[in-house]
Amino acid sequence: MNISCTLLDWYKENKRMLPWRETTDAYTIWVSEIILQQTRVAQGMAYFYRFTQAFPTVQHLAQATETEVLRLWQGLGYYSRARNMHKTAQIVAEQFGGVFPSDYPTLLSLPGIGAYTAAAIASFASHAPYAVVDGNVYRVLARIFGIDTPIDSTTGKKLFNQLAQEQLDQTAPATYNQAMMDFGAIQCTPQSPSCEDCPFAEQCIAYRTHQTDILPIKSKKTAQRKRFFWYLDIWNDHYTYLQQRTQKDIWQGLYEPMLIEEPLSELELLQHPTVAALKGDIVHISPTYKHVLSHQIIEARFVKIHLTQENDLLQAMQKISDTELSKYPVSRLIERYRATQAPAL
Ligand code: ADE
Repeated sequence: MNISCTLLDWYKENKRMLPWRETTDAYTIWVSEIILQQTRVAQGMAYFYRFTQAFPTVQHLAQATETEVLRLWQGLGYYSRARNMHKTAQIVAEQFGGVFPSDYPTLLSLPGIGAYTAAAIASFASHAPYAVVDGNVYRVLARIFGIDTPIDSTTGKKLFNQLAQEQLDQTAPATYNQAMMDFGAIQCTPQSPSCEDCPFAEQCIAYRTHQTDILPIKSKKTAQRKRFFWYLDIWNDHYTYLQQRTQKDIWQGLYEPMLIEEPLSELELLQHPTVAALKGDIVHISPTYKHVLSHQIIEARFVKIHLTQENDLLQAMQKISDTELSKYPVSRLIERYRATQAPAL
């Protein structure tokens, strides 16, 4: 059974008009794909426009400072993606004469580009016959073909990659890959897929055998998410700075010091633009605090910084005197750190 005909028919009717689909420019496609690995289409759109306006060509990106790139990336998280983009842009500018590659092996050799991104760019920019394989594709294939091999096993990965490649419409790899992405995002969603009006309803093994909610299978329980926190414990005389966590996240509503959530080494942290811009004295760097929550493991370190002057970076934070500090709720992790600290200054 080959799914491509039905999939392409579905796509004709359900295609989303997205700006990165109007181009075959490998650079623009690359920008969109890296952003979309970090966020959903709705939020990604604004970042895509900001990025392509600020850096219309790969040379513009290569010539930007890392700080400028990070600033544009701000809010997307996982800042190493932005740094890899910057590195890749510089390699392309210096070693490829500013022409962003669109052949699969060259793409794979660049920082931050893995099999998925390489297949997306190669197919969209030059119609090379590489099938994209990501979580969406695993789900669609596992359901339609009724495959219960765990997607996170070596056998599973091989099997799904092979099947994805077999299904690819060799004459229209770009459209096929876009169709697959939209089908996974719109019709064959992780929860409550729209099976009643699905064109695969008759052939889909998962639907026919009532297994849409168990396929695809993962052998390992949802891996505990690992997070890396660098907290900046900033003091200015008898005052410190806290912010309230507003994201729908583990610690919504609690207060915390300035946070850099990135897996940085001590040296990388000290060179981080925020730390540099604070212009304070670093008086202490804590060892790692391991904090285990139900679905996450946080490895946190605290950097104590003494300021001698006000700093604009702290404007969004609340300035709190040491006598008021106990009024602000904080996580257990911050309590643990504070218990090891001598009273302020
Ligand atoms: N998600 C990742 N890449 C995408 C693309 N090109 N179009 C829509 N959603 C995507």
